Amino acid sequence: MKSMNNIPVLTIDGPSGSGKGTVAQLMAKKLGWHYLDSGAIYRVLAQAAIKHNIDLNDEAKLAEIAHDLDLVFSLENDDLKVLLEGENVSILIRSEQAGNAASKVASLPLVRAALLDRQRDFCQLPGLVTDGRDMGTVVFQHAEYKVFLTASAEVRAERRYKQLKEKGIESNLSALITEISERDDRDSQREVAPLRPASDALVLDSTAMGIEAVFEHVSTLCAEV
Ligand code: C5P
Repeated sequence: MKSMNNIPVLTIDGPSGSGKGTVAQLMAKKLGWHYLDSGAIYRVLAQAAIKHNIDLNDEAKLAEIAHDLDLVFSLENDDLKVLLEGENVSILIRSEQAGNAASKVASLPLVRAALLDRQRDFCQLPGLVTDGRDMGTVVFQHAEYKVFLTASAEVRAERRYKQLKEKGIESNLSALITEISERDDRDSQREVAPLRPASDALVLDSTAMGIEAVFEHVSTLCAEV
């Protein structure tokens, strides 16, 4: 194993709505490994900033609160429960506005640096499955198994629309396509840890592939585990 402290890591990176979260959770369950939704950390940080009236461009202050962020994750009936300062923000952080605010704070280098150790602390035996934008390129760049999952913006917006609906959050499909494209641009063009596949990642396009087929490909990649 090439991973940190010989603990195996599977990273699944990709843009919003590519299905990476679903596949990562299925793989964590199949392998019996820990799961880290790194995007949720950026979403919670943005929420904390809004709660404490901190400007989403105030890099120094955001890095400070990122360092001390009172955040607890737990899995309840396969659903990720997220507590910010003891308050359940699981639903609140899933809106597109929360995703956009997350992408703003995530573009700030000091914020990303402040969150590195917190993310790496999730790397525990027997292994870790994690999804995000820079898991395979930066945070767990020595991971043994790396996947980059993508899909067209239209298909991703449709998936996001269905996901939000299931969570009881109303949205508008054409607005979602615009928001997803804007977020992709910001995530791909930022200077630090831009969204891109690691050179050693398996790149999968899920536009015309169901989640089951993606899951099979990723399971084959990790077959030796
Ligand atoms: O994956 P999710 O949509 O929850 O991520 C929300 C935002 O957090 C992304 O648009 C991205 O800007 C940021 N993010 C990041 N690096 C990660 C995970 C998420 O920059 N590893």
